[in-house]
Amino acid sequence: MRNIVAGNWKSNKSINEARERIAVMGAAMGSMPKDVRVMIAPPAPYLSELSGGERNGILIAAQQVSAFSDGAYTGEFTANMLVSCGVDFALVGHSERRADFGESDEIVAKKVRRCIDAGLGVVLCCGENLASRDNGSQESVIKAQLVSAFEGVSSEEMAGVVVAYEPIWAIGTGRTASAAQAAEMHSFIRSYLADRFDEDIAFRTSILYGGSCKPSNADEIFRSPDVDGGLIGGASLDTSDFQLIIKSDSSL
Ligand code: 13P
Repeated sequence: MRNIVAGNWKSNKSINEARERIAVMGAAMGSMPKDVRVMIAPPAPYLSELSGGERNGILIAAQQVSAFSDGAYTGEFTANMLVSCGVDFALVGHSERRADFGESDEIVAKKVRRCIDAGLGVVLCCGENLASRDNGSQESVIKAQLVSAFEGVSSEEMAGVVVAYEPIWAIGTGRTASAAQAAEMHSFIRSYLADRFDEDIAFRTSILYGGSCKPSNADEIFRSPDVDGGLIGGASLDTSDFQLIIKSDSSL
């Protein structure tokens, strides 16, 4: 099953709101398409409670993870800790982490390695900025990010990896990539995975689109065969909108 719709709540919601929304989503899971996995990335302080509670098949992801292993790193939470809390995935390399918290390609690669070694799933985020899109270098930017993130990663290890393409110029801006732009980049990413690993890994790896995805455009974006779902920011904060987006991502 390749299709995934993930909600990245970013730094939003109180614990009570988070509990309530997971309960509402959990209750609605029976009416969600059976070929789509639903993932939610709540703020870190809520991860342990939400992953340990009743969640009816909803995957729980951390929005980030330490590049270090356990030790004297004040304030960090490690991949091992997330696994011990029952967390399923971590987002790695989100553009907000890269831009606002100095996460270089090198740090992103370390985080990918930590997650894989701990048995934590990875949602590897990549995306170009507006200047790169405007000067036509988007594919080389994405390729460089993927080359670095997957350095030393084996084909077997790719079983726990999801890729999310999130053009920075489309995040939180209301300006989404066109279905054609998303289709083109997703196909590029899939052929890169085929070259770097093999056709089978490329076929099995979920490639999600993120950036101003909402109920009104999800259907069109998800129609491309290389778009396997979405990583949804703003629209995932509204449970009804999020459910509509999940329902858009069905091959049934
Ligand atoms: P928006 O859907 O709010 O544009 O955010 C996308 C995103 O960054 C998801 O990780």
